Amino acid sequence: MSSRIPLTTTSPEDTRVAAAAIASVLRAGDVVALSGDLGAGKTCFVQGAADRLGVRLPVTSPTFVLVKLLPAPVPVVHVDVYRLERLRSLDDLGEDVFAPDVVTFVEWADTIRALLPEDRLEVALAHGDDPADEQVRLLTLHAHGPRWAPRIEALEQVCQPWV
Ligand SMILES: Nc1ncnc2c1ncn2[C@@H]1O[C@H](COP(=O)(O)OP(=O)(O)OP(=O)(O)O)[C@@H](O)[C@H]1O
Ligand SMILES: [Mg+2]
Repeated sequence: MSSRIPLTTTSPEDTRVAAAAIASVLRAGDVVALSGDLGAGKTCFVQGAADRLGVRLPVTSPTFVLVKLLPAPVPVVHVDVYRLERLRSLDDLGEDVFAPDVVTFVEWADTIRALLPEDRLEVALAHGDDPADEQVRLLTLHAHGPRWAPRIEALEQVCQPWV
């Protein structure tokens, strides 16, 4: 069974709704590793997922803060490592960002791939091929590791509307 799931969204709200659907299969200890260029929709994805997880604070792209802890029934940790040029160890973030009792979202995760846990859901976002349609985004999900193996079918199911 392939764990690679390609999705298409057609607006920021559509990305938020898709992320919320995906969040329904997330649980404490999960790590969602987001990659994609500036404006690809990483933060938009975190907004939809965090809302579904019960976060009531606004989710923004952290400009100076690298790590934000967002209270929720299962708290959400939002990490953005774009401005971290020389991150060698996660200790540099000054927080236990991959704790077992939170769900962690990492923007620009591809820049710290070696520091990510093996078990993770990768979400790669890209602009659509047609430059005339600025609202299309291509999302490729890739579930890694034994934590995800039993949930791939559920993940595929919730993603159906965007496949
Ligand atoms: N289908 C779509 N999904 C997500 N965002 C979209 C979509 N269509 C257009 N957009 C726009 O693209 C932008 C995405 O911004 P967002 O902050 O989520 O990107 P980002 O990947 O986090 O960027 P950064 O690297 O600067 O943090 C927003 O302005 C949003 O309105
Ligand atoms: Mg962002």
